[in-house]
Amino acid sequence: MTTVELPKDKLPAIKIAAMPKDTNPGGSIFGGWIMSQIDIAAGITALERAKGRVVTVAVNSMEFHEPVFVGDVISCYADVVKTGNTSITIKVEVYAERNPSNKEIVKVTQAELTFVALDENRKPRQLPNLDTE
Ligand SMILES: CC(C)(COP(=O)(O)OP(=O)(O)OC[C@H]1O[C@@H](n2cnc3c(N)ncnc32)[C@H](O)[C@@H]1OP(=O)(O)O)[C@@H](O)C(=O)NCCC(=O)NCCS
Repeated sequence: MTTVELPKDKLPAIKIAAMPKDTNPGGSIFGGWIMSQIDIAAGITALERAKGRVVTVAVNSMEFHEPVFVGDVISCYADVVKTGNTSITIKVEVYAERNPSNKEIVKVTQAELTFVALDENRKPRQLPNLDTE
C-alpha cells in the first residue's frame, strides 16, 4: 500500500464514507458500491459540461488498485478528458482516507466512462460550446 496526497488543485466531485452495509462477504467494500459512486461522480461532471441531461453509454475502463474498508472516506475526482459531438469522456480517480489519528491516503480505483448528452426525447444532443459559458 502506497500512501499518497490528495490532488491539491481541485475538489472531489463527491466524498462519502464507506458503511458496513456496503461490504462484500469478504469484509471489504463491495466493488459495485465503488462503481456506483464513480458513475455518480462522473455523471455530475458530465452533466455540468453538457448543461443538461446525460446518460452513461460506456464504462471504458475500471481498475481496482487497493481494497476499500468500512470507515474509509472516499473522494472521487472527475475530469473531462475528451468531448465529441454529443459525448463526454470522464476520468475518475478514487482516493480512500483512513486511520484519522495517523491519516493514510490511498489511491484505490481509477476509471474512464463515456456519457452522452440527451435532448427531451432521449436522443443524443449536440454539446454546448465551452466559449458560451
Ligand atoms: C446513449 C444512447 C442515447 C446513444 O444512442 P446511439 O443511437 O447509440 O447514439 P449514437 O450512435 O449517435 O452515439 C452518440 C455518441 O455516443 C458515442 N458512443 C456510442 N456508443 C459508445 C460506446 N460504446 N463507447 C463510447 N462512445 C459511444 C458515439 O461515438 C457518439 O459520440 P459523438 O456524438 O461525440 O461522436 C443510447 O445508446 C442509450 O439510450 N443507451 C442507454 C443509456 C442508459 O440508459 N444508461 C444508463 C445505464 S443503466
